[in-house]
Amino acid sequence: MSAPEFAPAGVIAPGKVFRDQEGKVAQLHGVGIQQFGDTFYAWGEDKTNGDRFTGVACYSSTDLATWTFLGHALAADENIEDLGPDRIIERPKVLQAPDSRYVMFLHVESGDYSYARLGWAVADRPEGPYTYLRSERPLGNISRDIGVFQDEDGTGYVLSEDREHGLHIYRLSADHLAVEEIVSTTLAPPSDHPLGSHGLESPAVVKHEGLYYLFGSELTGWDTNDNQYATATSLAGPWSEWNGFAPAGSCTFDSQTSVVVPVRGTETTSFVYVGDRWIREDLFHSAPVWLPLTLKDGVAELQWHEQWTVDTVTGVVS
Ligand code: DGJ
Repeated sequence: MSAPEFAPAGVIAPGKVFRDQEGKVAQLHGVGIQQFGDTFYAWGEDKTNGDRFTGVACYSSTDLATWTFLGHALAADENIEDLGPDRIIERPKVLQAPDSRYVMFLHVESGDYSYARLGWAVADRPEGPYTYLRSERPLGNISRDIGVFQDEDGTGYVLSEDREHGLHIYRLSADHLAVEEIVSTTLAPPSDHPLGSHGLESPAVVKHEGLYYLFGSELTGWDTNDNQYATATSLAGPWSEWNGFAPAGSCTFDSQTSVVVPVRGTETTSFVYVGDRWIREDLFHSAPVWLPLTLKDGVAELQWHEQWTVDTVTGVVS
């Protein structure tokens, strides 16, 4: 196990791990990020026990580079079957429902990835503690990697990968606690993947200038690939062809999409691509690969920077 490289204080350094206020390796894996007021909250997979569930770690930041650990928003609990220490829980994502409650969505798994369910937890504060509610297969479908999106009208959506059936976008109920209907389903570009036609995983959506950008990764386990994106003027589609948004062959600068964070500043709106560079045998030290993402006229483009910052007040990247 090689020693991790640490990001210098106050900057984003792709491929280098963030340390929290106590100098510990921040567990910002498979992370969900939301901005409430001037504070960004991040909920990440705590990989202290490798792939087995210990908790959803919550952090806060005002610059997306300096992260304060706020504790486990949701902790492993051997009295709740879905949260037991033998579980795998991935990609925690949070939305604030119109009733003001914070709703956490989870990919709840068994060790062999056959459970494939969507889980819900709720809290009164972004950092929790969250109360676990339940898991289900939405509308009976397998649900692995997830993402979330809330539109300008407050409607919530869950994106969920369903193997050979595709990547579904589900509309949520007003309280965000139930899945109501499939809004659209996309399939990955044709490939020689053993599943045949299938959906992309690690999904994320952002909206910019009236256009929805949908991001996802090919199904290659912990290995990286050239992630793809498509656009549409409605979440119901029709979606454009898939295209890469990083240099072809770079495997998305050796990372997998986790989420895309809008930074809506006083001068400009910037987008932060938040990716994971998984280390299969040492998931705890898997490095964040976070980069500025340009979205313009339907084209998404990721740029490599060794170190960078984003002014979360103005929105300007430097
Ligand atoms: C790829 C997914 O995106 C990850 O979240 C994780 O489930 C790995 N597969 C497990 O192989």
